Amino acid sequence: MFKPLNPKLKDWTNQRVWLIGASSGIGAALAQAMLAAGARVALSARNQPKLAELASGNPQALVLPLDATDDAAWGSANAILQADWGGIDLIVFCAADYRPQRSWELDADHVRHTLDVNLASVYFGLETVLPGLIAAGRGGIAIVASVEGYMGLPNATVYGPTKAALINLAELLYGDLHPKGLGVYLINPGFVKTRLSARSRFRMPALLSPEDATEAILNGFARGQFEIDFPRRFTRMLRLIRLLPYRWRFFLFERVLGW
Ligand SMILES: NC(=O)c1ccc[n+]([C@@H]2O[C@H](COP(=O)([O-])OP(=O)(O)OC[C@H]3O[C@@H](n4cnc5c(N)ncnc54)[C@H](OP(=O)(O)O)[C@@H]3O)[C@@H](O)[C@H]2O)c1
Repeated sequence: MFKPLNPKLKDWTNQRVWLIGASSGIGAALAQAMLAAGARVALSARNQPKLAELASGNPQALVLPLDATDDAAWGSANAILQADWGGIDLIVFCAADYRPQRSWELDADHVRHTLDVNLASVYFGLETVLPGLIAAGRGGIAIVASVEGYMGLPNATVYGPTKAALINLAELLYGDLHPKGLGVYLINPGFVKTRLSARSRFRMPALLSPEDATEAILNGFARGQFEIDFPRRFTRMLRLIRLLPYRWRFFLFERVLGW
């Protein structure tokens, strides 16, 4: 009953990790920490020079450029991994795009792009890696969502619903894949100082560095948590707000926080 929900990922030596969104921010910091801990890390994102810089001099790093919104490109990238490594032990979906927008600022191109990067790409990746992981009967899927998926928050008009969908997806994946021996890890960061959050229009409370975020993620993997959320003082408060009746929650947002 009180066993960890997932396998504890503690020893990274020669673990084969495919990290999507590895060129900057949380993904880049996580890649560096995993490499330092002895993992083999396939670094995927669009910015090949950045990936090459990260991999430089580390034989455990594999530069694997990928536009995650291109469903056909997933097959070719996976073929390289299969040829080089024979499979993977963990995939981390960390790619995302964010533009602060109120509901009256929408444009169709941006909506489509954000849904593709943040959500559709995860389905393309799952379609690519699940047959191999299920056949192996071991390994893990980690999905980076966000506390912005906990409830409707202003300015996250497209980003927020993609993150809510990822939380929902991770929950149902757990039901599907845990009985097949796979781990499913849902990572919900609070605010982290990165290129993405630099676009924010409001002051971000409890802001962490990508290195702090990485430490929290690795701790969560080591404990075998399903949800890896941080910083806890902030995520607990948001969870409490989520429990409020809508009348109170909207009052808090509008009158107290001025949203
Ligand atoms: N920063 C925060 O406060 C915060 C809070 C909660 C959750 N998160 C989540 O944490 C994750 C990492 O975000 P971050 O803050 O570290 O942002 P970031 O520095 O902007 O990193 C985003 C990563 O996604 C990659 N990416 C974007 N579009 C892509 C595409 N089409 N194909 C492949 N890769 C793509 C980027 O690489 P290229 O541009 O090279 O493709 C980059 O490596 C995201 O899922 C984000 O939603 C962040």
